[in-house]
Amino acid sequence: MSARTTAVHRDGRHDARGFDVERIRADFPILQLQVNANPLAYLDNAASAQMPQAVIDRFVRYRTREHANIHRGVHYLSEVATREYEAVRAKVCAFLNVHDEREIVYTSGTTDSINLVMHGYGRKFIGRGDEIILSVLEHHSNIVPWQMLAEEKGAHIRVIPCNDAGELLVDAYEQLFTPRTKIVGLTHVSNALGTINPVKEMIAIAHRQGVPVLVDGAQAVPHLPVDVKDLDCDFYAFSGHKLCGPTGVGILYGKARHLEAMQPFKGGGDMILSVSFEKTTYNDIPYKFEAGTPPIEQVIGLGAAIDYLSAIGIGEIQAHEDELLRYATDRLGALNGVRIVGTAAHKASVLSFVVDGVHPHDIGTLLNEDGVAIRTGHHCAQPVMQRFGVPATARASFAFYNTLREVDVLTEAIVRAQKVFAV
Ligand SMILES: Cc1ncc(COP(=O)(O)O)c(C=O)c1O
Repeated sequence: MSARTTAVHRDGRHDARGFDVERIRADFPILQLQVNANPLAYLDNAASAQMPQAVIDRFVRYRTREHANIHRGVHYLSEVATREYEAVRAKVCAFLNVHDEREIVYTSGTTDSINLVMHGYGRKFIGRGDEIILSVLEHHSNIVPWQMLAEEKGAHIRVIPCNDAGELLVDAYEQLFTPRTKIVGLTHVSNALGTINPVKEMIAIAHRQGVPVLVDGAQAVPHLPVDVKDLDCDFYAFSGHKLCGPTGVGILYGKARHLEAMQPFKGGGDMILSVSFEKTTYNDIPYKFEAGTPPIEQVIGLGAAIDYLSAIGIGEIQAHEDELLRYATDRLGALNGVRIVGTAAHKASVLSFVVDGVHPHDIGTLLNEDGVAIRTGHHCAQPVMQRFGVPATARASFAFYNTLREVDVLTEAIVRAQKVFAV
C-alpha cells in the first residue's frame, strides 16, 4: 500500500507532499470516535499509538484459528502458533536491518528490555567503582534500573548534559569516559522534548573507548528508519504499543556475542535445555531470555503492525510527521504566552510546551473538552523537567495518521484555554 497520491494541497486530506492521510485514517476505527461531542484529535502518540484494523484482525484470526501454547507441541495448533510467533523474528530483523534472528529477544516492552540488559549484562559485568553513562534526556526506564544496579554494586552514574535547545553536548559526553566506564545508555529520541540524538556518532565515541551502548528506541522506531547495523549499537530496545501494535510486547536487539555472554534474567520453562536438581543448562540465545509462556498473541500482533507500517514506509511516515511537527511548531510558536520546551535542530513528532499562567494539567483538561488528547506532566523524564526548570509540560505528540487540521484544532483549543484563564 502506498498512501502517496499526485495531489499536492493542504485540504486536510493530503499534506503538502500528497500523503493521503484520510485513507490512512480509515484504517484506524478508533479515530472515528467523538469525545465530548467533538471529533477525537489523538495527539498522545508518544504515550501509545493506536492500532489499525489489520492488527485487530490479526488478533481475531489468532484467537479464532491459531491459539495454542508454543514450542515442543506436536499438534496442529501448537505448530501453527509456534510458526507464526517465530516468523515475527524475521520481520523484526528486516525492520531493524538485523541479519541474525538469534539477536532478537521478545520482551514485554522497552522497560523490560532495559531491565534485561541491566540484570543480564550489568549485574555480571559492572562492579564496585565502575561507571555508567546516561543522558539527561533519558526516560525513567533507562535511569532507574541503572540506579538500582549502581546501588547494589557500588557503581556510579555519570550524566551527559544538554543545551537550552535540548541537544546533548557531545563534547561533554566525550569527557565523561574513564577507564571505569562500563556501559552507555542513550535514548534515540527524547520522549519529553522530541530531540533526535546523534546516537551513531555517540556510539562510535563509546566504541573507541571499548564501551558498549544500549539505545532506547521507544520513541524512534515509530518515526524514523532504524538500522542497528549502521548505528552499530550493542543493544536496542523498543515497545510494540508505540508502533501501532499491542501492549505487553517489546523487543531487545542485542549483538550475539553480548547475549551469549549475559546471564539470564528470569528462570523458568523454555529457557533451559535440561534441568536437574544438580545442574541446569540454559537454552541458546534468544530463548535463554524468554522464560515461561511468552505473550504469543502480542508478538504476532506486533508482526502485523510491522507489516502495516512497512507497507506505508517509515520514510513516508517520517516525512508526513515532519510536516506536522513543523506546522505545529509554527502555529504554537506564534501564540503569545506559549513557550515551546525543546527546540533542537533535529526533532521527531513531539511538541512540549508551557502556557504562561496555566498549569499544564489544566491545559490538558480543557483540551479534552474539545476532543483533543494530549499528555501533561513530567512524561517519566523528571531530570528533563529539572533541567528546563519546569515541573511539567503539556505534550502533543504526532503519528502519521494525524492531520494539519488537528494541529489547527489543537491551536484553537489552547487559545480557548488561555481565554478561560484570562491569560
Ligand atoms: C523514550 C522511552 N523509553 C522508554 C519508555 C518505556 O516504554 P514502556 O512503558 O513501553 O516499557 C517510554 C515510554 O513512554 C519512552 O518514551
